[in-house]
Amino acid sequence: MAINSNLFHGFICILVAIILIGCVECNRKLVDTASLFMFGDSILDPGNNNYINTTSDYQSNWWPYGESFFKYPTGRPSDGRLISDFIAEYANLPLIPSYFQIDKEGFIDGVNFASSLSGSLVETNRGHVINLKTQLKYFKKVTKLLNNKVGDKQSKKLISNAVYMFSTGTVDYGEAFRSSPDLIHFPYPKQQFVEMVLSNFTSVLKEIYKKGGRKFAIFTLIPLGCFPGARAFTFQQNKSGECINELNEILKMHSLALPKTMKKLQDELAGFKYTLFDLYEVIDQRINHPLKFGFEVSKKACCGTGPFRGINSCGGKRQVKEYQLCKNPKDYVFFDASHPSQSTYQQSAKLLWHGDPHVTKPHGLKSFFEFSG
Ligand SMILES: *[C@@H]1O[C@H](CO)[C@@H](O)[C@H](O)[C@H]1NC(C)=O
Ligand SMILES: *[C@@H]1O[C@H](CO)[C@@H](O)[C@H](O)[C@H]1NC(C)=O
Ligand SMILES: *[C@@H]1O[C@H](CO)[C@@H](O)[C@H](O)[C@H]1NC(C)=O
Repeated sequence: MAINSNLFHGFICILVAIILIGCVECNRKLVDTASLFMFGDSILDPGNNNYINTTSDYQSNWWPYGESFFKYPTGRPSDGRLISDFIAEYANLPLIPSYFQIDKEGFIDGVNFASSLSGSLVETNRGHVINLKTQLKYFKKVTKLLNNKVGDKQSKKLISNAVYMFSTGTVDYGEAFRSSPDLIHFPYPKQQFVEMVLSNFTSVLKEIYKKGGRKFAIFTLIPLGCFPGARAFTFQQNKSGECINELNEILKMHSLALPKTMKKLQDELAGFKYTLFDLYEVIDQRINHPLKFGFEVSKKACCGTGPFRGINSCGGKRQVKEYQLCKNPKDYVFFDASHPSQSTYQQSAKLLWHGDPHVTKPHGLKSFFEFSG
């Protein structure tokens, strides 16, 4: 009798332990912190383009990409972590998997759908990237998987508590500009083009809202016209190595229209919350005042070749095989011709997380990750 009772007691203890461990896991994941879903272009791409039928021009899956943190290439087009990776760390989340890794890594903490060189328009680099509409389709698939995994009630809670991060649009303008006959003037009526890109973008936000998403973190575009790739272009054109101002002008137009666009959505959609991150300004400041932010070099890339190392050859796996690599990427604003370094991303993530009022409006991302029922 005594033996049986002890056995029974032991059995109960083990059972309780299993339930407790199980629930600590599920509670942490489903309640204590918000999940994180990412969409858009190379600013957020964790390597999704490794898994699609494209060319090396659209990928960064070889050394020295990743050298400063991962020590192996992940497909991230920088020397280390991206803004989203730092945000995940600050939010006590693990690294968020790429969409094509969710079989192995799960999707409870979030999923990253971003694809380098994709835009908000389906036509932009069609056939070589995962466009924003397809990213949305993949997100919808994930919501179904979630529902099967944790049930209707929990998955609804997870989706409404989650943060949806977007960096998209820059490539639409960059590619349109590249297609212009004189490479000096933007080839479409600017206002209409901006309206088209923004309306494609907001239609995706509305679809996520319909699925239950409520918290959106939106990045402005970036000053691509002052990136090393653009300077290499003007250097070849007229030896100036200046910024392509015409390109920056339209990237700025889109960025300046975003606050109004987001306010309008907030007025239309009950419970819709957003924070707008002015990545344009953050990068522009570092280009113009590198020393103030702890950088030594802001015009030239760390990795690449030609003027400003602005020929997109980092790692020697694209058309041009020759490249030079700097010793200390952390001294550089840019890692390659068209991407910021990990240091620039880390500084950006801190400003976004804590909500620096000059570049993050109306509030920091931290508050989005606090438990909200
Ligand atoms: C990949 O793309 C190339 C060129 O566009 C095409 O010829 C090939 O059939 C594609 N492969 C697959 C598996 O889709
Ligand atoms: C050089 O070319 C760029 C781009 O076409 C242009 O914006 C810039 O004004 C030009 N600079 C000079 C000095 O001609
Ligand atoms: C999206 O852009 C395309 C052009 O790429 C346009 O034809 C379409 O109407 C736009 N869709 C929305 C919802 O604005």
